[in-house]
Amino acid sequence: QIEINGLGRGIDVSDTLYGLFFEDINFAADGGLYAEMVKNRSFEFQEQYAENGALHGYEAVGDVELEIMNEGGLNKNNSQYIKINNNTDSKGGITNKGFLEGMFFQKNAKYDFSVYIKRKDYFGLLTIELLDEANQVVADGKIDLSQKTESADWEKYTLSITAKQDTEKGRLSLLLNSSGTIDIDMVSLFPQNTYKNRKNGLRADLVAMLEELNPSFIRFPGGCIVEGNPLSTAYKWKDTIGDISERKQNLNLWIGTKENPYYQTYGLGFYEYFQLCEDLGAKPVPVVNCGMSCQARANGQTGTLTTDEELEEYIQDALDLIEFCRGDGTTEWGAKRIEMGHEQPFDMEYLGIGNEQWGEEYFKRYTQFVKAIREKYPDIQLITTSGPASDGDLYEYAWNCINSHNNDEMKFANLVDEHYYNEPEWFLQHVFRYDTYERENTDVFLGEYAAKSNTLKAAVAEAAYMTGLERNSDVVKLAAYAPLFGNTLSSQWKPDMIWFNQSSVFGSANYYVQKMFMNNVGDYIVPSVLAGENMGGISGYIGLGTWKTSAAYDDIKVVNNDTGQVLYETDFLKKDSQWKTSSQGNWGIVEEDGESFFVQKNDAYPTNEDIMGSAVYIGTPEWKNYTFT
Ligand code: AHR
Repeated sequence: QIEINGLGRGIDVSDTLYGLFFEDINFAADGGLYAEMVKNRSFEFQEQYAENGALHGYEAVGDVELEIMNEGGLNKNNSQYIKINNNTDSKGGITNKGFLEGMFFQKNAKYDFSVYIKRKDYFGLLTIELLDEANQVVADGKIDLSQKTESADWEKYTLSITAKQDTEKGRLSLLLNSSGTIDIDMVSLFPQNTYKNRKNGLRADLVAMLEELNPSFIRFPGGCIVEGNPLSTAYKWKDTIGDISERKQNLNLWIGTKENPYYQTYGLGFYEYFQLCEDLGAKPVPVVNCGMSCQARANGQTGTLTTDEELEEYIQDALDLIEFCRGDGTTEWGAKRIEMGHEQPFDMEYLGIGNEQWGEEYFKRYTQFVKAIREKYPDIQLITTSGPASDGDLYEYAWNCINSHNNDEMKFANLVDEHYYNEPEWFLQHVFRYDTYERENTDVFLGEYAAKSNTLKAAVAEAAYMTGLERNSDVVKLAAYAPLFGNTLSSQWKPDMIWFNQSSVFGSANYYVQKMFMNNVGDYIVPSVLAGENMGGISGYIGLGTWKTSAAYDDIKVVNNDTGQVLYETDFLKKDSQWKTSSQGNWGIVEEDGESFFVQKNDAYPTNEDIMGSAVYIGTPEWKNYTFT
C-alpha cells in the first residue's frame, strides 16, 4: 500500500524538469531533422574523410568531365565548386542520391530546388530531374540559361517541382541539354512541407515527435561536437548563422565512414535552434566550447588546451551569443539576428560552458568565463560540468571545486551538468541518488542520461529513475534523455530516443516513457510511504512519484519493475482501447479516457491477460491508500 495521508505538502516540481538534448550525432541534423536532401551540396567534403573527396555523393551522367575548382568560389567560407563540361549534344551532368540510402519523394508533394551557377560558355537549358530507383523520372523542370549574360558572377536559380509518385530511394540530377561548360555550387533540394513550411526548414514528421513531448527546454548543439577533436573542428556558433551559402561547413566530430562521411553544413544553426525552442515553447540551453577539445580533460589526457590569449576569443564568443539573443539593432550581433528575420530577442536564460570537461584545466578556464559573463550579464544561469559520474575521482574533484566556490561574491555556477549512460540495473539501484544531495548550493542539470538499450526493460528502469528525479526536483532542475535521434541506416551511438530514416520515424519504448512523464508534470510532490514488506507489497516495485496538481484532480506515477503479471484493480483496459505500436517492438501505449498505459504486449491486441511484465502507470487512481494487486 502507498500511504499518503497526513504527510503534508512536499517540494514543488521544477517547471523546467523535462526537456531535450539535441546533438548532430547519428545524422540527427544533416540527413535528419534538417530537411536538406542533397549530401555535400557545397562540394566541400575532404579526401581524408570522404570517398571521392569533394565529389563525394555525386556521379557523372553522360559524357562529361567533372572538376572540383577552388578559385573564384562563392565566398571564403564556401570556396570549392564543380565545373561540369558536357562533351556532346546529348544530356550530361551530375546526379546526387542524398544521404545514406537515397531521397524520399512523395506523390504530389512539391520540392524546392536551388543552385548557384556561374556561366561559362553554356547557353541552353538545364534539366532538373527527380528519379526513382529504376531511373524513371518522378519529377522534372527546366532552368533556362539560354540568354547570354555579361555577368561572370554567381547567380542563384530556383525551381519548384512536384513529384508524380512515391519513391523511397530516389535521387536528383542536373543535366546540361547540350554541349558546354558551367560552374555549379550549393545544389539544394528541400520538401516544401517542412515544419511550418519554412524555407531552409526542418522535417515536419521529426519535429512532430518533439512537439508531442512538450519539452520545457532544449540543450544544443551537443555533446562532444561542442568540444571538437581537434579543437579546430569545435562547434563555433558564429559559423552557423547568416545566409546558408556563407555558413562555414565543419567536419562532424562523429566523423562517420569514408563511405558515409559526416559533416555539418550548419544549415541547422543557432538561429534555427533558437527558433525551434521558441516554436516548441522550450527554453534554449545553448552550450559553448570552454577552450578545450574533446578528451583534453585532465592531467595525462590528450587533446588541445587553449592558451590564456586564445581563450579570450572563446569568452568573447559566449558574450556575443548573449548579445545575438538579447541585443537590439544597435548592437553588432543583435543586428545580425534582426537581419535574419527575428526582430524580437530570443529567450536566453541559460548558458552551458563546456561539455564533458572537468579537472584543473577546465575549472581554470570556466572561472574566466564566469568573471566575464557575470560582469555583463549577471542574470544568466551558468552551467558548469561534472563529467560522467562514473569518472570517480574527477567527478568528485569537480563537485569539490564547485562547492569550494559557494561563498564567492559572484555565483560560480547555477547548475552542474551531470551525464551518465549505464545499465538498466544501475538506474533501478540508484532511484534514490538525489535524495541525499546537497541542497543549499548548486542545482543539478542532468544533461544526458540513458539506460543502455531501447528495450522495455531499459525504458522501465528510466521511468523508475525519473520518479527519483521528480521527487528531488528541488535539486534536479532539468533533465534530458540522450541522444535524441538515431538514423536507422547509420548511427554512431545507441540507444536513442527517436529512430528515423529518410521516409519514416518512430519512437522507442524509452520515447514513450519520456512522453508520459513530460506530459504529466504536477505542481508539487505529495510525500508518500510504502507500507509492508518488499516495498509495499508490489513485488519488484521500484519507484514512486506522486503529486497533486492545482487542477481538480490528483495524479500518481507508479513504476513496476517486476517480471510477473501486472494487473490493476480497475478493469482499465477494454477491447476498444487504442493500441499504439512501434514498428520495432512488442510494446506500446494504451490510451483511454485521457490516461496512458504503457505495456508490453504478447499478442496483436491487448487484453488484461496480455499485460505481462513491466509497466509504467500514469493516471488518476482513487486517491488515498491505492492498492495494486
Ligand atoms: O550523447 C552522446 C555523447 O555522449 C555526447 O556527445 C557526449 O556528451 C557524451 O559522451
